[in-house]
Amino acid sequence: MTPVNVHDFRDLARRRLPKIFFDYIDGGSFDELTMRANRADFAALELRQNVLVEPRPQDLSTDFLGARHPLPFMLGPVGFLGLYAGKGEEKAVHAARAAGIPFCLSTFSIASLADLRAVTDGVLHFQLYVLDDRSLCEEFLQAAEHAGVDTLFVTVDTAITGIRERDVRNGFRSLTRLTPGLLARLAMKPRWLADVALAGMPSVRAVGHRPEFGRGALEQAANLSRRIDKTLSWTDIAWLRERWTGKLVVKGVLAAEDAVRARDIGCDGVVISNHGGRQLDGASSTIRALPAIRAAVGPDFCLMLDGGIRRGSDIIKAIGLGADGVMLGRAYAYGLSAAGQQGVTDVIGILAREISISLALMGIASIDELKDHGAEVVRPR
Ligand SMILES: Cc1cc2nc3c(=O)[nH]c(=O)nc-3n(C[C@H](O)[C@H](O)[C@H](O)COP(=O)(O)O)c2cc1C
Repeated sequence: MTPVNVHDFRDLARRRLPKIFFDYIDGGSFDELTMRANRADFAALELRQNVLVEPRPQDLSTDFLGARHPLPFMLGPVGFLGLYAGKGEEKAVHAARAAGIPFCLSTFSIASLADLRAVTDGVLHFQLYVLDDRSLCEEFLQAAEHAGVDTLFVTVDTAITGIRERDVRNGFRSLTRLTPGLLARLAMKPRWLADVALAGMPSVRAVGHRPEFGRGALEQAANLSRRIDKTLSWTDIAWLRERWTGKLVVKGVLAAEDAVRARDIGCDGVVISNHGGRQLDGASSTIRALPAIRAAVGPDFCLMLDGGIRRGSDIIKAIGLGADGVMLGRAYAYGLSAAGQQGVTDVIGILAREISISLALMGIASIDELKDHGAEVVRPR
C-alpha cells in the first residue's frame, strides 16, 4: 500500500510494530472518550468556502514561539521514538530539519539532547518532566543549555499517569526487562526488530549514567515515571521561570484560568493539550477548549495546540480558532514507525499539501491571512 494520508501511515505502523508498542502509541486512557473527542470535535467544524478569489502567491509560513516558521506546525514530544524505529529521535529530527520545522525531544527518549545536537543544527526544543529529585532536574536543564535548546516545554498534566487499558492488557506498564515471552512477541516483527537492534541496546540516555535507574529503556522508564513530581504546583513553575532563561511553555493546559496564570507568571506560551486523550478521560477536546482560552489570554500570548491532528484541515481549524501553531504527536509517530525518517518526511509533506489545497479552496492565500480571518472562516456545523 502506498500511504496517501496519516490514516494510512497508522495502518502501516500497526503492521510493522509489535502490538505492545503500537497500542502504546495509539491508545488513550480508560474509555478513550477524550481521545475520540479530539477527532470528533474537529469533524464538527466546517470551513468557509470562497470561490473566484483573485489568485495570489500562497504562503504557509507563520510566527509561533517568537520565530517565523515555514509551516504552521512542529513535531511535539513523543516518548520512546527510538523504540519505534532504530535511532528514531535522530530520524525525526532530521525530517524536521529538512522541513525547517522545530522538533521537541521528550524526557523519555532513547537519544539525549547531546546526541541530537551532534547530528543537527536545527531548532531543538526540550520537554521536561519535573522530577522529585531536583538535582536530576538541574542536570536536565544544564544539558538543555549546553545543547542550545530554544524552548523548554514543561508538561504538567501527568503528575499521575492515566490508566491506558490497552497497555495494562499488554503488560506494557509492568515491564521492566526483556522476558522470554516478550522477546518471542517482539520476534514476530523481524523487520522492526532488526532495525531497532542495529541501533544497539536501547536505554533512556538522559538517565543512562545513573545506576539507580537500572539498565535498559524499560526499567529506566519505569523508574523515571515513579520520580515525576506529583506535588508540582504553580510555585514550581515560578521557580522554573526564574531558573530557565530561555523560552518557557507550559504543556497540558485546558482551562482559561490556567492559561492566564501561566501568562502572568511570565511563561512564553502554553500548549493546549490533554496529552492526546491519554490522561484525564472525560476532559474537553483541545479544539473545544481553544476559543475560551484565546479570549482569556488576549491576542499576543502564544497558544500552541495538539491532540487529534491528522489532517491539514485540522491545522487550519486550530489556527482559525486562535492557535498560533500546532504540534503533531501520533501523526508523525505513525510515520516514523511505518517508514522511518522518510515516513516522518511524508507525514509533514502530506499535511502541508492538505493545508495548501484546503486554503486555496477557501480562497485564502496564507496562514497569516487565515489568522486575520479567524473564527469567521471556521464555524460549528
Ligand atoms: C506514544 C506517545 C508518547 C508521548 N510521550 C510524551 C512525552 O514524553 N511527553 C509529553 O509531554 N507528551 C507526550 N505525549 C503527548 C504528545 O506530546 C501530545 O500531547 C499528544 O500526542 C497529542 O495528541 P495526538 O497524538 O492525538 O496528536 C505522548 C503521546 C504519545 C502518543
